[in-house]
Amino acid sequence: MFPEQAEIDHAVALLQAGELVAFPTETVYGLAADAANPLAVARIFAAKGRPANHPLIVHLAGAGCLERWARDIPSPAWELAEAFWPGPLTLILRRAAAVPTAVTGGQDSIGVRVPAHPVALALLRAYAEAGGGVDGMCGLAAPSANRFGRISPTEARHVREELGDSVPLILDGGRCLVGIESTILDLTRGDSQPPRLLRPGRVTPEQIAAVIGVLPETPSLAGNDGSPRVSGSLAAHYAPRTALHLVAPQRLAEVIDQLHRAGRRCAILCHSEPPAAIAATDTLRKLAADPRGYARALYAALRALDQLAAELIVVEDVPATPAWAAVADRLRRAAVGAGRHAGPAD
Ligand code: TXA
Ligand code: MG
Repeated sequence: MFPEQAEIDHAVALLQAGELVAFPTETVYGLAADAANPLAVARIFAAKGRPANHPLIVHLAGAGCLERWARDIPSPAWELAEAFWPGPLTLILRRAAAVPTAVTGGQDSIGVRVPAHPVALALLRAYAEAGGGVDGMCGLAAPSANRFGRISPTEARHVREELGDSVPLILDGGRCLVGIESTILDLTRGDSQPPRLLRPGRVTPEQIAAVIGVLPETPSLAGNDGSPRVSGSLAAHYAPRTALHLVAPQRLAEVIDQLHRAGRRCAILCHSEPPAAIAATDTLRKLAADPRGYARALYAALRALDQLAAELIVVEDVPATPAWAAVADRLRRAAVGAGRHAGPAD
């Protein structure tokens, strides 16, 4: 199933020439370009339909290349890199002078990570061995390989559905094992303040605290009812085209009943025992009742339910516990963005 070396070599040649390549990571599929080549980076924004002021994550083969991309790297960053790389943790650091503004969206910071997928690592290593692109910087800028505001791809065929022929090569590395995007931690605030969690993911604040001795600040994005607590921060994202409602488990049967009485068929995503109210004309997807298993299959399930062209996707809400925080974040953003064609995020 994994690409042959010849395909990796072809990917490297395309990247060196400033072209795009989609590749698997352990989180989701990424759309890569030479991060030191502004024209190649511009192709990413064009293919995704993403506004140019959104910064991209730079993927590296190892922490050894970090100083090409970041300056004033604080010791917690090295400790976290040692503990979690390769892995689903992105660090936001002060950017080095050589970093082109195209990749940072004009900010003075840079997002970096070392992905854990064997195909991603094979690609990054082969890329470095072949010279590492412009100025030998060895970084691949890669956002999730979806159209702006849509569900991130967790299988190679999802990338083809999203981006069609605008990507010359998609490396197929099977299904992504994590299934949701990396944790993002901002370390640019200096030693006097705790780092800030910008996006929850598989690596939890507790795991970070166990390494650096400080619990990151976690801006609370949404209340239990899904309403934004910080005005404007709950951007539409990860969104299906079909409207999506999050429903508390104890209200699921009642909501399905109401929809049936209104003559509507439902597409339902649940993780506990499905309610008896479900009719033969409804479509049900059941995910694992543990947060890791749920996250792994979430985007593929949302994509499948979206393709039914139902009027509504009903999602059984997940527990309001730290273990479910990353999944709850994605579901809330999907609910805000659903039914629109693109949201104000990436
Ligand atoms: O798991 C992942 O992180 C995937 C795989 C492909 O690595 N990538 C990914 O990239 O999710 P993207 O572009 O879809 O999301 C990156 C997020 C964006 O919300 C962006 O605003 C944020 O990272 N980001 C990147 N650089 C940043 C910076 N310098 N400061 C603050 N946020 C940054
Ligand atoms: Mg994305």
